[in-house]
Amino acid sequence: MAYRWSNDLTRADITPKSAFLNRRQILVGTVGLGAIGLVGSAAQAQTLEPNTLEEITSYNNFYEFGTGKTDPAQNAGALVTSPWSIKVDGMVDNPGDYGLADLLDGLTVEDRIYRFRCVEAWSMVVPWNGIELADILNKVGVQSGAKYVAFETVVQPENMVGVQRRVLDFPYVEGLRLDEAMHPLTLMATGIYDEPLANQSGAPIRLVVPWKYGFKSIKSIVRITLTDEEPPTSWNKVSAREYGFYSNVNPQVDHPRWSQATERKIGGGLFASRQDTLMFNGYAEVAGLYEGMDLSEFF
Ligand code: MTE
Repeated sequence: MAYRWSNDLTRADITPKSAFLNRRQILVGTVGLGAIGLVGSAAQAQTLEPNTLEEITSYNNFYEFGTGKTDPAQNAGALVTSPWSIKVDGMVDNPGDYGLADLLDGLTVEDRIYRFRCVEAWSMVVPWNGIELADILNKVGVQSGAKYVAFETVVQPENMVGVQRRVLDFPYVEGLRLDEAMHPLTLMATGIYDEPLANQSGAPIRLVVPWKYGFKSIKSIVRITLTDEEPPTSWNKVSAREYGFYSNVNPQVDHPRWSQATERKIGGGLFASRQDTLMFNGYAEVAGLYEGMDLSEFF
């Protein structure tokens, strides 16, 4: 089911979790992909048993709130998420500082169960609610000549304990090629399990690119810039040989310090066996975006 984003949605408009899960059992593996006419994905052949909300919101990476996996859940309560505005600038027809609700007004909120694979070789399955990034970009009007989209996370030094420690060069920044950004799988998530995003998950709005390693999925976004140059990205600035701009999930290209062939599913229990990592995290339909590119070179 998809519904329209509106300024006046109330809690009553939100699907009860039980209904949400029942619907998912029927649609498992096809939601999102089937709905937009993308078939033949390896991910569809797998059972996408979503992680619990508890698992999804208690094991996180959000370095602005510390580097430990439970630090974000402990510290992100201090993040101020309302009011929230997003600066849209660069090569767009309608640049400006948009209130979040204004930017999303009238756009369709989609339900998508996506596999989520971190570069650290753990994974989850997350039932997101969000808007296709393409819808937002079409609304602001991408100018011809734009080739990339750059994103920036909020910096609230007094509310973000990790920013003071300067582990990364904040603000956290990320980027996509324009065709990746326009792909129907690319989502700007505003919720999980029909609940607004928890702060540690990147409230009030974060990127989700399911065929790429998780660090591309930048959280708590306050700026979107259209540009004709490949934008800098946070982890690439830390170590270019370890974290490329593309960072497509690829079991054949190991991280210099560990294998990417398998992954540990969070919530599987101590003795669960590792599962094979799939090319493009199972979203084989994106392969056409990289035709002619050597994916061991453009990693
Ligand atoms: N966004 C910001 N602003 N800061 C971060 O540290 N971590 C990234 C990504 N987005 C990160 C971020 C990494 S490494 C991963 S794996 C995912 O967020 C984790 O998302 P999750 O905590 O919702 O699972």
